[in-house]
Amino acid sequence: MKDGFGRRVTYLRLSVTELCNLRCRYCMPAEGICKKRHEDMMTEEETIRAVRAAASLGISKVRITGGEPLVKKNILSICEKTAAVPGIRQVCMTTNGTLLAGMAGPLKEAGVARLNLSLDTLDRDRYRSMTRVGSLDDALAGLEAALSAGFEQVKINAVLIGGFNDEEIPALAALTKDYPADVRFIELMPMGTEFGETAYLPCDTVLERLPELRPEEPDGGVARLYRLPGAKGRVGLISPVSSHFCGSCSRLRLTADGKVKPCLHSPAEYGIRGLDEEGMRQVMLQAIQAKPRQHDPLWEGQGSGAGRTMNQIGG
Ligand code: 5AD
Ligand code: SF4
Repeated sequence: MKDGFGRRVTYLRLSVTELCNLRCRYCMPAEGICKKRHEDMMTEEETIRAVRAAASLGISKVRITGGEPLVKKNILSICEKTAAVPGIRQVCMTTNGTLLAGMAGPLKEAGVARLNLSLDTLDRDRYRSMTRVGSLDDALAGLEAALSAGFEQVKINAVLIGGFNDEEIPALAALTKDYPADVRFIELMPMGTEFGETAYLPCDTVLERLPELRPEEPDGGVARLYRLPGAKGRVGLISPVSSHFCGSCSRLRLTADGKVKPCLHSPAEYGIRGLDEEGMRQVMLQAIQAKPRQHDPLWEGQGSGAGRTMNQIGG
């Protein structure tokens, strides 16, 4: 299905929970989040109905996100049923990886094709400080588990934060020498949390720090791709702030409480709870038509405009 600007919408980012076992500073407020009532969240049955509705509109790729999708008890069932919906060709997941050690194999069996893991630092104390509660060892065990379960194209996401992990750019990029995984640096977006504009670093900082990076062919995703000499994986630069990719946006988002979001950075939301498949389809159609041409500049003026923190949307 094309939106009002001729962009084909083929990609659903499906948040299955707002909850997370971590409390990353750029994602959540310190006190955590106000847990919504269970009955206000999408049921598994509604979630799968929504995936069917989305597939009928031409969505073929689903990324399961959170919060942290692996804290959801029925996550394997959701993955399996999502992957079985006719028209869905690929199911991926974004996870912080800390609960992945025992789950990687079952996720693969459930039909998850690709995993993106969040890892912003390789320093134990910094990891704890950024996630407020997490352990780097758990995240690294998750990475090992993802690779040994045979996931192809494991991607490691590192949000670039000035004064926090910028000195680790070379070490993080060097993971691509040790592991057959891509490392993607992501520009910090203003999602209403504790980091201000002073923490924002453009992705070009990575190119300045690593002049040995060589450009690679684009693969259709939002990252600009590079490779360190002899590395197994690629280094990706994702620049939502310095060069937004709205022009080629193919995404629709569905939150865990059943709101379709046409754009990450717009407060517009369309509720689908309690609707039948056709009803959901109509609402999604409306949301696709309402996709804005582009969002406003991110650090100038009001910031994101998302109206929710990242864990409440799905990164
Ligand atoms: N800016 C950029 N990326 C973010 N993520 C979460 N919050 C932000 C933010 N403010 C990323 C996480 C993870 C994905 C879910 O979204 O690092 O990789
Ligand atoms: Fe959890 Fe991911 Fe948010 Fe960190 S960024 S608190 S891991 S949802």
